[in-house]
Amino acid sequence: MSATADIRRQTPPDIRARKGGGPLVVLTAYTTPVARLVDAHCDIALVGDSVAMVLHGLSSTLQATMEMMVLHGQAVARGLSRAMLVIDMPFAAYEEGPEQAFRNAARLMRETGAAAVKLEGGVHMAGTVAFLTARGIPVMGHVGLTPQAINVLGGYRVQGRGEDAARIREDAAAVADAGAFAVVLEKVPEELAREITGAVAVPTIGIGASPACDGQVLVVDDMLGLFTGFRPKFVRRYAELGAEADKAIAAYAEDVRARRFPAAEHVFGPETSKT
Ligand code: KIV
Repeated sequence: MSATADIRRQTPPDIRARKGGGPLVVLTAYTTPVARLVDAHCDIALVGDSVAMVLHGLSSTLQATMEMMVLHGQAVARGLSRAMLVIDMPFAAYEEGPEQAFRNAARLMRETGAAAVKLEGGVHMAGTVAFLTARGIPVMGHVGLTPQAINVLGGYRVQGRGEDAARIREDAAAVADAGAFAVVLEKVPEELAREITGAVAVPTIGIGASPACDGQVLVVDDMLGLFTGFRPKFVRRYAELGAEADKAIAAYAEDVRARRFPAAEHVFGPETSKT
């Protein structure tokens, strides 16, 4: 466990209270073993809808489903003892209106034990954020680049440059004022991220949004070098596990083909043994 880790389970009010304090540390997780690693060092484990691309090999987050989010949410919950579990609302599970959002958010929380949900959108989602928080569902907002809207935005572009800054500013303010306990800012210029972080009363969690935010989030497979489909500028690789795994699998294949594996120590003899 890292020096800063708190042994008590983190809650949305704990996270909210960290505004302006030490940076919040957030990573995605989709499986129990990775959740255990994230739990030891991070404040929040996010079951992002990125699971659709990272683990299921799909081409965008639009293909994430409620079933995926529940299944991976349950797996991650088993690996956490102190980090807070947040689950993404998948595309088409909340956009119809607050009632649909409530039904699906309640299902995610009830079936996984998550403390909160995350949903994408600004001004147009503020009513839904208020509806959910008033009914016991803490919400993390997500503005700037909202990957579920790439078909409208025209790709994974930086959002909020020039005159577009006002739109992102209003989006962040709207979800924060509606009751979100934190807001993810994705792919926005540093100056705008600093301005929004100074203006909203809740922590901002940046991804490609500079150190000006109150916290940072990355996709765990990106920073571990396991997801190599593409590499956004904002990712720092802390390990090259994909390359390491490739070497290990190649060595295993060579050993099997050359009959070097299994070796004598892996083979059972006639004597009785428990292992
Ligand atoms: O789906 C995801 O992983 C996310 C974060 C990276 C913010 O939304």
